[in-house]
Amino acid sequence: MNSASAVKTNNTVKAPRATRGDQRFKMLDATIKRYQYQQDALIEILHKAQELFGYLEKDVLIYIAHQLKLPPSRVYGVATFYHLFSLAPSGVHTCVVCTGTVCYVKGAQAILANLEKSAHIQAGETSADGQISLLTARCLGACGIAPAVVFDGTVLGNQTPESVLDHIKGWLQDGST
Ligand code: FES
Repeated sequence: MNSASAVKTNNTVKAPRATRGDQRFKMLDATIKRYQYQQDALIEILHKAQELFGYLEKDVLIYIAHQLKLPPSRVYGVATFYHLFSLAPSGVHTCVVCTGTVCYVKGAQAILANLEKSAHIQAGETSADGQISLLTARCLGACGIAPAVVFDGTVLGNQTPESVLDHIKGWLQDGST
């Protein structure tokens, strides 16, 4: 595993530490390269980033700014201007279910349906107690361990509806004590 390649670009500025070992940044890189590092492609790239991460966290915005050689304030400004972008999940915990093709084939829909039913929320929503934000993403770059789910930024593979629910229950218990 060569995590350094996640930050290898034609740009000499180093990306944030959070990019190390995260396949999603490699996929984001592929999109940025496809747009040839064009600053005009910022919205398309932000869109792809939100697909990959579920929302646009600070490290992602900084990474995009570095790659496009744009001031972070400009990237942040665009991300906040458009309603289709969300900068942060509002819940204490974040669960992102990958609904990309491979994960879908391997049971992502059952995972998502089970979560929605158990937490009484739909994808894109936060539970009434503010504990869990449930999001979806399209391919996390972890197809080899599909179906994959991201729990508070950590990608776990080979998930089942039961294993995901166990993880969520742990959060709920922590929040109630
Ligand atoms: S489709 Fe889910 S990680 Fe690729």
